[in-house]
Amino acid sequence: MSVRTLATWLLNSKHTTIFTGAGMSTESNIPDFRSKDGWWRNIDPRTVATTTALQNNFDLFHEFYTMRVQGLKQCSPHPGYWILVDWEKRGLVQAITTQNVDGFHIAAGNQEVYELHGSIRSFRCASCSWEVTEEQFLNKESCKHCGGNLRPNIVLFGEGLPEDSWNASILHIRRSDLVIVIGTSLEVYPASELPNMTNGKTVYINFEVDQHNRNFDLIIKGKAGEVLSQANELVKKLNG
Ligand code: OAD
Repeated sequence: MSVRTLATWLLNSKHTTIFTGAGMSTESNIPDFRSKDGWWRNIDPRTVATTTALQNNFDLFHEFYTMRVQGLKQCSPHPGYWILVDWEKRGLVQAITTQNVDGFHIAAGNQEVYELHGSIRSFRCASCSWEVTEEQFLNKESCKHCGGNLRPNIVLFGEGLPEDSWNASILHIRRSDLVIVIGTSLEVYPASELPNMTNGKTVYINFEVDQHNRNFDLIIKGKAGEVLSQANELVKKLNG
């Protein structure tokens, strides 16, 4: 019943924004952060995901992101991603804003994608911001220009979000009649504020739901890929 409501709202909405988190990619075998097999259950984020870690603990920082960059090579976007591409092509979705750094929405083929926490697919010097290759990062080379350490273009705790992506996300969310939030614990500020910025309807699709999620108009407990697939079947049926 609730997936049918989602399908109906999607078909009736003029402007829909999708907001995703790490739960969107677990069905592609990429761990999330806070559920039982998540990264932060085994590794303290302060030791690898902060500006302090980058400055004071570069060996561990490099090891952690090397593991994630290498892990990504074995994975690809699952069919739920393709549904979002199809919905965008058909004018049902206007924008995707994501906390994920895996680049899967872009790899799958979505056009209007805003990566709030950057991307693990590009790299730069941590000191002078010179663009470098993945290979240079994985080889743990130093910057050829200034000798600095190399890092992925992700947002660490302690850093601001990319302004363009953040501002564009807010504009889309504010214009939206429908915001579909998929696979995020909504634990990390400021991205967690986005669902509160719309006057439109809000839907939360997540494997686990708790009292934090009470403000949503519709809550669908389930796996992202499976719920999207069910919704897509109904969209096709209702659309004739
Ligand atoms: P979390 O790991 O905090 O939350 C992922 C959510 O997705 C959890 O509530 C899971 O229950 C749910 N989930 C897992 N698999 C799912 C599936 N197949 N279908 C539906 N739901 C599923 O990840 P985020 O909320 O994305 O930031 O985390 C936000 C930020 O915290 C990340 O971008 C990262 C992290 O620290 C930085 O590193 C700056």
